[in-house]
Amino acid sequence: MAGRYSVAIVGGTGRLGYDVSKVFLDEFHSTFPTVRVLTRNPSTAKARDLAERGAILRDFDLENVAQSLAEAFEGIDVVINALPTSTPKDIKRQVAAAAVQHGVKVFFLSEFGVDHTRNDFPGYDHHEWQTKRELASEARELAQGTLTQVIAVYTGLFLELTVKPIMGFDLENNIFACYGSPTQKVTFTSMSDVGRSLARVSALALEPLTASKVPEELRISGTTISFEDVRDLVAQTKGLQKAEVRSEGLEEAKNRLREAPGSHIVEYIRVLMGEGKLDFSDDNLNSLVNPAEAFWKWKSVRDLLSTA
Ligand SMILES: NC(=O)c1ccc[n+]([C@@H]2O[C@H](COP(=O)([O-])OP(=O)(O)OC[C@H]3O[C@@H](n4cnc5c(N)ncnc54)[C@H](OP(=O)(O)O)[C@@H]3O)[C@@H](O)[C@H]2O)c1
Repeated sequence: MAGRYSVAIVGGTGRLGYDVSKVFLDEFHSTFPTVRVLTRNPSTAKARDLAERGAILRDFDLENVAQSLAEAFEGIDVVINALPTSTPKDIKRQVAAAAVQHGVKVFFLSEFGVDHTRNDFPGYDHHEWQTKRELASEARELAQGTLTQVIAVYTGLFLELTVKPIMGFDLENNIFACYGSPTQKVTFTSMSDVGRSLARVSALALEPLTASKVPEELRISGTTISFEDVRDLVAQTKGLQKAEVRSEGLEEAKNRLREAPGSHIVEYIRVLMGEGKLDFSDDNLNSLVNPAEAFWKWKSVRDLLSTA
């Protein structure tokens, strides 16, 4: 990666944002010597740590969002929106508008999960994905005919946050529960690998020779694994008997959502896992982003277990 570019990360102190910021600072410094991180509070431990690693902290003043964004995006090539879904829509709209207005070349939407364009919950989809779709379409409309490329990166589930009891993986007690087939595979991507992918996609989109290869929506797939495979790994690494994976009917789970739209998003995600809609193994841009793992080795569930 040849160029010397600049990046601003909104939400750069967050669960995803902190790992993304660290990757840009620690591993992609020569390509991205300028890393600005927006934060409402520069005195937190994470903000200070990022500053020590070389980030330029920029105040994200909610009383004056437009000015904060204008100052932070001035002369910036790439903006990553890593704000949570709970952020008011108006703030996210202003982030997109400021990126376009300041001639940012690559703008990443705050996606980083389910490829909700494939959801099949007609009339009862979860409001978080409806909001993501709405914001994506507004940002693309704003960016039409401008310098800005708006990109959605769908990453599957974050490895470090979702191999957890709430998703049906109770590693500590060796209990596993899914909707549908226990052999159905699901994509998990480590948050640091999301950061590495964003750095690579940015550089590819900014380099004239590769820019046309980068689509406006892409899936990446860190590691793809089934409930049974995780169960087997846990038994192997902990020297335990293989537990039974409890499986509940997928259709029943989906009917519950149909009858109670607005249920917790985890219930929706567990249905998507069962339906195979979170298996990105056959349909992803890994070969562009990290061909033959030339840039890094994707973190696996085995790696996760060995560090737990
Ligand atoms: N695939 C998955 O498994 C998965 C899991 C979780 C999240 N996600 C996605 O990842 C993205 C980032 O989510 P996250 O959980 O990493 O975010 P987060 O940690 O909750 O928040 C990121 C940062 O945003 C800032 N922030 C929070 N609320 C704000 C507000 N109301 N106004 C302005 N700034 C605010 C905070 O920084 P300061 O306090 O420093 O200002 C915070 O550190 C989202 O798109 C989310 O949907 C995906």
